[in-house]
Amino acid sequence: MASSSQKGIVITIPVLVLSVSAAAIFLFFLLSSLSSSPCTCPPSIPDSTFTTTAAVVTGGTVVAEVVDRRISVSRDDIEWVKDQIRANGLHMQDNVLRKGINPRTRAQQLEDLNNFKGISHYEGSEANNHTALPCPGELLVEEHHSNYGEPWAGGRDVFEFLAESSLLTANSHVLEIGCGTLRVGLHFIRYLKPEHFHCLERDELSLMAAFRYELPSQGLLHKRPLIVRGEDMDFAKFGSDVMYDLIYASAVFLHMPDKLVWVGLERLVSRLKPYDGRIFVSHNIKFCSRLGGDECSKRLGSLGIEYLGKHTHDSLLFNHYEIWFEFRRSKA
Ligand SMILES: *[C@@H]1O[C@H](CO)[C@@H](O)[C@H](O)[C@H]1NC(C)=O
Repeated sequence: MASSSQKGIVITIPVLVLSVSAAAIFLFFLLSSLSSSPCTCPPSIPDSTFTTTAAVVTGGTVVAEVVDRRISVSRDDIEWVKDQIRANGLHMQDNVLRKGINPRTRAQQLEDLNNFKGISHYEGSEANNHTALPCPGELLVEEHHSNYGEPWAGGRDVFEFLAESSLLTANSHVLEIGCGTLRVGLHFIRYLKPEHFHCLERDELSLMAAFRYELPSQGLLHKRPLIVRGEDMDFAKFGSDVMYDLIYASAVFLHMPDKLVWVGLERLVSRLKPYDGRIFVSHNIKFCSRLGGDECSKRLGSLGIEYLGKHTHDSLLFNHYEIWFEFRRSKA
């Protein structure tokens, strides 16, 4: 599913400025000749897969907007960053004590934090009324970023694969089953409109990390994700008015009894948009294949679910790929 062969259109600033000025002059004459009929319709603009330019007239001024629909990095992005590293003459160095830099492990940083707090900090009665959302030290030193076998950065890979495979837009509705500390979820929350990301998670410490550290530190509280503590595939608290464009479970079903996975699918199928909506499951689908022979697809079929295929997605930053199984709802 590599999409690096597709290139976005690069609109240089001079070209953009020129086209905007041309549009402004054109619209000036258009508006003065038709002064009684103000036009708010955007002129027709060439469209590409990832980048569109829209000129919008607002009260006589032309505002140019470049809307970037690309989610994954482009080949140009990668060339750009490699150039930056080359141009700055950068090489990996040993991370040892040097002028102004004193590298610490997470454990050492936590110890420092507990013993010395910040260099500038409030004392006495002032210590407790200046911090709006006090966060436990373990979360501040990001111990939870090492709770998983894989690097934290891999969350971005999962997001890019799922969002592009299910043709997501900011207006889509997404449900994650088991979002943990939001390693993946953060990227969806940032991308989607407020309240459009839902998640069921049972681990209390993970939820604390999500609410007390990840959402506030990433500036995402305003996105109001609906993250519910619960297990056993109980989606009752998500209401019944949302239809999901994407439902996914990353490394979750393989830790669950097969029976429970089926209960979950049965409950969720009516909440998935027919045909266009997607369910993605990572790693394996033993809950299904263990049934043997045709039983797997028969049972899916009886729920109105169709298996569409297996995908792999390469990680951007390390030698690793994700395996994903794609399903859709085959009946309305
Ligand atoms: C914090 O509490 C102390 C003691 O009650 C008080 O004197 C001070 O004004 C408070 N500061 C703020 C920012 O509320």
